Amino acid sequence: MYLTAEEERILRGEEGEAKAKALEVIVKVGEALGAERLQPIVHAHVSGVSYNNIGEPGRKFIEDLANMGARFSVPTTVNPIGFDLEAPGAFDLISADREVLEGQRAIVSALHRMGASLTLTCTPYYIPSVRGLRPGQSVAWGESNAVVYANSVLGLRTNREGGPVALMAAIAGRTYYYGMHVPERRRPRAAYRLEAPEGYRLDYARAAVLGRVLVRLHRLEGPPLLDARVDRETFKELGAAVGAEGDIAMVFVPGLTPEEPPGRLEEVVSIDYRDVEAELESMRLDDVDLVYVGCPHASAEEVEALARELSRLKPRGNRPQLLITTSRDEERRISPEAMEVLREYGAVVLRDTCLIVSKLRREGLRVATYSYKAMFYLSRHGLRVGLEPMEDLARRLGSEA
Ligand code: F3S
Repeated sequence: MYLTAEEERILRGEEGEAKAKALEVIVKVGEALGAERLQPIVHAHVSGVSYNNIGEPGRKFIEDLANMGARFSVPTTVNPIGFDLEAPGAFDLISADREVLEGQRAIVSALHRMGASLTLTCTPYYIPSVRGLRPGQSVAWGESNAVVYANSVLGLRTNREGGPVALMAAIAGRTYYYGMHVPERRRPRAAYRLEAPEGYRLDYARAAVLGRVLVRLHRLEGPPLLDARVDRETFKELGAAVGAEGDIAMVFVPGLTPEEPPGRLEEVVSIDYRDVEAELESMRLDDVDLVYVGCPHASAEEVEALARELSRLKPRGNRPQLLITTSRDEERRISPEAMEVLREYGAVVLRDTCLIVSKLRREGLRVATYSYKAMFYLSRHGLRVGLEPMEDLARRLGSEA
């Protein structure tokens, strides 16, 4: 692999042992993939930081790096952790015993010492400084939903990095020039056209199901091109479904993706909206114990949309619990009126965490959500999970006055 004089100097340890080791890892991964050179990055997002997932070995790895003097070379944000940092006991279905509390706090503190911004969210794309990054800039992000959003909506360039590689790239300030960093690899060869009647609306749930259908159909190399009316907000659920179901890192959506559309396509495939509807219908559950919103972390607009639905209804006496997971920044943007409605419904709003990276107290819980990603992972944890649109979730919680 070609290395610049500066990269050679870093590898010799002239900027410290930790940075040399981090760059060594990036070079090795790059060489294994056949990358010819490294790519400087302007931002990193580190996933895989919940103590419930990485345990003591992960804690030791991150603490050792911090103790070795590792510091992030670029602005770095961090994925959700095992509980709400300021209110670990705020939701009775999530447990955090002493070991988890202590281990998680140690991880957060080590990341902070290395210079991370403690965003603790899987939606770094809502952070104003990240929104300020320019299309075409390279970043190293873990967290598949964020990667798909970054490539597809922000025009940033990132591969789907594993947590440790994103961490090393953040320290080294570079990643390997490969995959999504290479302009030719970002060009779609196949298009998928949603055939639907005028006025057909892709809400969060339908966008998520469409993402799943897309992954099943897409075979050619390069990102799929999606010809469907999807906006930034609903794309979030589509991208999260794509990230959970397959290994796609980008969906090219004309009008949304800030890049030149491809000239010639090798394949054009039609998707009938009735297939999306049928799949959605098959994913419903009858009774549920919990309505879950916020995978990926909910935006303020999303929470306000839910509150609007709920404000048209009256809370049912015997209703499921309502859990919302979001980031601290987005929570601060939610209007007081929306928060008031949520309080009437006894909603629990958690920051910093989610139902998947925390530890659930109850087996056999039945959950309704419009997030296919939540459904995908919670089902693997043995929960019964149904998918349905936001309006239907609201009707589980409230009834007509
Ligand atoms: Fe985020 Fe947790 Fe879903 S990290 S994307 S809310 S699984």
